[in-house]
Amino acid sequence: MPRIPQADRVDPRFPERWSPRAFDPRPVDAQDLAALFEAARWAPSASNEQPWRFVYADGGPGLDALRQVVNDSNRRWAGKAPVLCVVFARRTFEKSGKDNRWAPFDAGAAWQSLALQARSLGLVTHAMGGFSVQAAHDACGIAPEEAEAICVIAIGHPGRVEELPEDLANREAPNGRRPVEEWLRRL
Ligand SMILES: Cc1cc2nc3c(=O)[nH]c(=O)nc-3n(C[C@H](O)[C@H](O)[C@H](O)COP(=O)(O)O)c2cc1C
Repeated sequence: MPRIPQADRVDPRFPERWSPRAFDPRPVDAQDLAALFEAARWAPSASNEQPWRFVYADGGPGLDALRQVVNDSNRRWAGKAPVLCVVFARRTFEKSGKDNRWAPFDAGAAWQSLALQARSLGLVTHAMGGFSVQAAHDACGIAPEEAEAICVIAIGHPGRVEELPEDLANREAPNGRRPVEEWLRRL
């Protein structure tokens, strides 16, 4: 489905980012990976709390462990991604201990920054809500009271669609969006 913007002046990087399932297993360059996390670092957050916590693996037993965290249906394709990263959100402010209800919002901003930075380096990302929260906490050594597991992100180089299982290969294309009028209202 072509992604046709409704507003001419939008930066094309927004409609051009999408979440493929075809990953090439070759490793991601360490400096590229550092750039992704650096982009996430500059995301805005309530009181500049930066409540996101990222735990990633790019090989070895760490990657094997994170591969076990994702659901079977996601592992079918995400099992090839050379980097998996769990995004956590710390739900209390560090200084006051008070509830931080904006933490998942801020973690989402950090993830989007990472995703856009990935794209500008020729990398692809795909977020997954389909994973075992308990297994993510166990694998990453982060207690739920400390920070809540929100998402797992697959990161890597674009792969070959033909190497996906047939049902996934048939779905491997950017999807569309609701028209802005469905969710935007001017007062
Ligand atoms: C929080 C979140 C959870 C998601 N969970 C999954 C998932 O478990 N499996 C999957 O294949 N895609 C998952 N996705 C990808 C979405 O389906 C995808 O982002 C959405 O359809 C929009 O497509 P695009 O990212 O290609 O623009 C998730 C995305 C987000 C942001």
